Amino acid sequence: MTHLRAVKGMNDVLPDEIGRWHRVERTFARTMSLYGFREVRTPYVEPTSLFVRAVGETTDIVEKEMYSLEHHGELLTLRPEGTAGAARAYVEHAVHAKEPVTRWWYAGAMFRAERPQRGRYRQFYQLGAEIFGDEGPGCDAEVIDLLARFFGELRVPGVQVLVNSLGGQEARARYREALTRYLAPHTASLSPDSQRRLSTNPLRILDSKDERDQLVVRDAPTIHASLDAGDQAHFEALRRYLDALGTPYTVEPRLVRGLDYYTRTLFEITGAPEKLGAGSTLVGGGRYDAMIADLGGPKIPAFGFAAGLERLLIASQVDVPTNVIDALVAPLGEAAAMAALGLGRELRGAGLRCEVDTRGKSLKSQLRRADGLGARVVLILGESELAEGVVQVKDLDAHTEERIPTANAVRVVVDRCMAASRDVDSRPSLAVERKS
Ligand code: HAM
Repeated sequence: MTHLRAVKGMNDVLPDEIGRWHRVERTFARTMSLYGFREVRTPYVEPTSLFVRAVGETTDIVEKEMYSLEHHGELLTLRPEGTAGAARAYVEHAVHAKEPVTRWWYAGAMFRAERPQRGRYRQFYQLGAEIFGDEGPGCDAEVIDLLARFFGELRVPGVQVLVNSLGGQEARARYREALTRYLAPHTASLSPDSQRRLSTNPLRILDSKDERDQLVVRDAPTIHASLDAGDQAHFEALRRYLDALGTPYTVEPRLVRGLDYYTRTLFEITGAPEKLGAGSTLVGGGRYDAMIADLGGPKIPAFGFAAGLERLLIASQVDVPTNVIDALVAPLGEAAAMAALGLGRELRGAGLRCEVDTRGKSLKSQLRRADGLGARVVLILGESELAEGVVQVKDLDAHTEERIPTANAVRVVVDRCMAASRDVDSRPSLAVERKS
């Protein structure tokens, strides 16, 4: 019989790994709320035409990476990224009429039919954000600074911020012409893919990983000569803001990105190159001031980014405790089991993560289970304890054992677990209790 396996490039995340996912997701949600962003959730499936219009017909994503299907005559696509859906929702709900500036964040799965490798999957998760209604460079700088801080908190080594400006649509048209003029005499030296892109989307050639293309574009003109005064002033102001914030960055004049919607500010953040490889970006983002109008909304500027969650997890040095529970209640005999269930309920009421071992096994076997789950304390309840109205509290870290009146047991166990140098972040109710 052939074994059923997950689809190539789509991964299970098992409970042993989920703690680090939660840590990064929570840190992101907290960071975003500190900056006034609110969460938005949009569908995983959108009309195919949304991505064709927003992301661009001649991008790799739209040309070859979308999972699309036809259902009852409707063309649908599993979202390859989050910006198009957020912009669609913004226009559809006329959010601009309700607030002058909108700050949204999102987290969720995206789907691209790419060749899977380390850090590149077909289902992957993004942490992203979009701002609608603010065209100032201060907005761009603050978000880049936010990300630098977020990466600091996640202890990502070797973080590098690359920034560039693509100018407005006219500047891009001028640059496209200049680039085509430069590339045309080198057509024969380009990869077959780039020869095709020369007429469809020459800017994409700058982003090519093919060595033949990289050799040719090394001396290509940069976009900066094509920028108009407004674009230049915007970019210079962005740099002044970043300098004032003390956020290190590098101007990368040939930085273009795989999506067609960008205007003006464009940026990427890389990190942990020894783990991810030099070309692997953690975050990509930028300004897309034309998209809202292109999707039928008013002329409203926009800026955003998305980070790849799996890549962040590879890059981050943050570890989380792996213990599943704080306490195990170990009853011996049926009468004790009944009392144990009540004790378990009380412990959870006090905010402790706890399991009651209901298997009816020996003490030795229950202690092994406590150890496997990483419990700090085992509460042993046998016939003699029941008769005396006590619980035997065994502290597995301190290697102590004491008999405590049942009425005091919960308080004693809570104190022991709180005193332990374990992560309280994973025990929300305790964390709250400690702060109050
Ligand atoms: P993107 O550069 O296509 O931009 O993706 C952003 C990040 O998602 C990448 O830097 C990477 O970390 C992660 N990523 C992309 N593809 C994969 C993959 N196949 N496997 C694993 N991780 C991946 C966007 O998606 C834009 N929507 C960002 C944006 C938001 N721009 C403005 N607003």
